[in-house]
Amino acid sequence: MKTYSSNLFVIVLAAALLSGCSNLASQNAGSGEQFRPPTLSTATADEEVMSKWSRSCALCHITGEAGAPVVGDTAEWQRRLQQGEEAILNHVVEGFNSMPPLGYCMACEISDFRAMIAYMAGLN
Ligand code: HEC
Repeated sequence: MKTYSSNLFVIVLAAALLSGCSNLASQNAGSGEQFRPPTLSTATADEEVMSKWSRSCALCHITGEAGAPVVGDTAEWQRRLQQGEEAILNHVVEGFNSMPPLGYCMACEISDFRAMIAYMAGLN
């Protein structure tokens, strides 16, 4: 039983690594040397995500309302991303000081938030 579950773990891990690598490779093609945290960088902000972003996040993240990190301020975003993806996503979902829970976007999925953060941080 023990062997079975650890084998399964190895297979799952290998699959995760493999898919992660191929995503990264295609993302990084032609994008220079810039460092990109893996999961956020594979999230792309398509039209649907951007329309949600404009209706919610943009209210504060364009002007820096109440101290919100401004879209495209890569230095500030890099600093915030250092706490790790999970922590920053939690702050979006649960709220963080003047950042409202879900950023006023009730229809947003976690994948949307990833893409929005990547967009604001200038990662994609
Ligand atoms: C009402 C204004 C407001 C709206 C709307 C808003 N934010 Fe924020 N956001 C803030 C403020 C203010 C902060 C800074 C909080 C702090 O660091 O004390 C922040 C911080 C953040 C952070 C960084 C959190 C961290 O851990 O440093 C992320 C990521 C973020 N917002 C994403 C979003 C997304 C995605 C949306 C839209 C779905 C959104 N925000 C909508 C005000 C807003």
